[in-house]
Amino acid sequence: MAKKRTSKARTITRVRKNVSTSSRRKGKRLTSTQKLILHLNEALSIENAAVQRLQSRIKQTKIENVKQRLQTHLEETKRQQDRLKQLISDLGNGQKNAPTKDKAQLPIPSPPKSLTDIFGRMMTSAEEELKAVKEDAIIENAEIILYDMLTHLAERMNAADAISILSESLSEERAMADWIKTNTPDMVAQVWPEIEDSIVMVEGE
Ligand SMILES: [Fe+2]
Repeated sequence: MAKKRTSKARTITRVRKNVSTSSRRKGKRLTSTQKLILHLNEALSIENAAVQRLQSRIKQTKIENVKQRLQTHLEETKRQQDRLKQLISDLGNGQKNAPTKDKAQLPIPSPPKSLTDIFGRMMTSAEEELKAVKEDAIIENAEIILYDMLTHLAERMNAADAISILSESLSEERAMADWIKTNTPDMVAQVWPEIEDSIVMVEGE
């Protein structure tokens, strides 16, 4: 038994060594500029998707101050796209590293089918509105993590110009996430009457 465990342990060590060697070798194939461009393009693909989502949220929401704030953030997001495109072009010296037009999958949680079926039948439009606001907050917070990480990477890669530009976008994402958090009690208050109407009163509850 003891012999078997030792040989298994040796195999695991060998596999780990191979993984680490191959990832080191893979990492050597890009310059720091090329690597930074990849990360910037990843951010751009998220902003490309964010623009599309913000446009549909602006049409969909019935809460007037949410509509206005989303509109402001749409303009900011378009500027964030432009900043990323400019950085990618400047770093790539033109055509070779074209800014991506692709859209990332936004980090929106998908509940299990057993719950979505019930939600689909039972949720009021007011609760759907709150669900969308919750998703807005998740996306904005994900963007904060994205830009925060990018500024640290840019710092390590000595891309001084990129740091101040990315920090500008980071502040806008923080402001948007803060706005949602601060205004959540008011949003819930605005849609509460519709939710309350859909609640069946049971004696003793
Ligand atoms: Fe954003």
